[in-house]
Amino acid sequence: MREQLPDFPWDALLPFGEIARAHVGGIIDLSQGTPVDPTPEFIQKAFRDASNSPSYPVTAGTPELRAAIKKWAIQRLGASGDFDVLPLIGSKELVAWLPTILESEKVLIPQIAYPTYHVGALIAQAESIRVDIDARQWPEADLAWLNSPSNPTGRVHSIDEVKAAIAWARGNDAVLICDECYVEFDHTATSFSILSQTGGDNKNILAVHSLSKRSSMAGYRAAFIIGDSMLIARIRELRKHAGMMVALPVQKAMTVALSDDSHVIQQRARYNQRRELLRPALEAVGFRIEFSNSGLYLWCTRDEDAWTSVEWLAQRGILATPGSFYGASGARYIRLAMTATDAQIIDAISRLKA
Ligand SMILES: Cc1ncc(COP(=O)(O)O)c(C=O)c1O
Repeated sequence: MREQLPDFPWDALLPFGEIARAHVGGIIDLSQGTPVDPTPEFIQKAFRDASNSPSYPVTAGTPELRAAIKKWAIQRLGASGDFDVLPLIGSKELVAWLPTILESEKVLIPQIAYPTYHVGALIAQAESIRVDIDARQWPEADLAWLNSPSNPTGRVHSIDEVKAAIAWARGNDAVLICDECYVEFDHTATSFSILSQTGGDNKNILAVHSLSKRSSMAGYRAAFIIGDSMLIARIRELRKHAGMMVALPVQKAMTVALSDDSHVIQQRARYNQRRELLRPALEAVGFRIEFSNSGLYLWCTRDEDAWTSVEWLAQRGILATPGSFYGASGARYIRLAMTATDAQIIDAISRLKA
């Protein structure tokens, strides 16, 4: 299997990191979507308070965490009908292992997508097929990924697009999973959960969520899945055998994080403000911004090879990600993450102006 896995994409970016680091003002790294704003203090406190943790945590999650996820799913996401929940060690874990757990043979992934969807299919030795957004054109398969708002483009699916994907899943008796880890970061497009569109019939439908970005908890490894109770029972059963339990202090921190929205509203405002500051500065130097109306990123192009744009920015000390990391159709785009401090974003703008 090792031979089939692609080279880790970020390794190819290392030389451009060196160029950016050599800038007199130092590097402004907008290449990774790794949060830099502090984890809210009340979440840190819940984690610290649970640090005396001699016993094993249970895979299914504490009753308090399960209740908090269910409440959030109903109130925030509009979930209804029968559904179950399961905490995860980060959503990347599920993305990488779901096709293996479900023994999928054909996996549909978006044309431009977070690379781990493809990697997950490779690990399962499944065929991964890139598809356009319109699910009415999708081929038969046993698993399909949606990602809305999207990494890297920030595009939000329309209700009709999500409904077409649900109809595809029902017609093919296939599993449809929506990666919604940016759902809290609306901007000019309103994002919503797939769970609000099932009419309470969640058979074969899953949504995966993460607190990495929502609550700046990427270092905790805290995520969860919501949806079809039978599928979640299957996933839980395998994870019980495989030892993938979420640490108890992390479960406690997740419980309090989900019970508060005010820190999410503040974080959303921070990301949106950074994006709105950076957008005109990029446009002024010839970049065209596409989508980027939700989520964490700016997806842009100067109608040139992505590596040319990456190098141009690196010479100004700004590190961007080439769109080719996300699929061949991203080869003339770059992605910039709003995961830098406000001061760094202001600095990036003055470097672009200079
Ligand atoms: C679309 C998408 N899904 C999943 C993940 C994984 O997030 P985590 O494992 O931190 O929950 C990321 C991380 O950047 C992502 O962009």
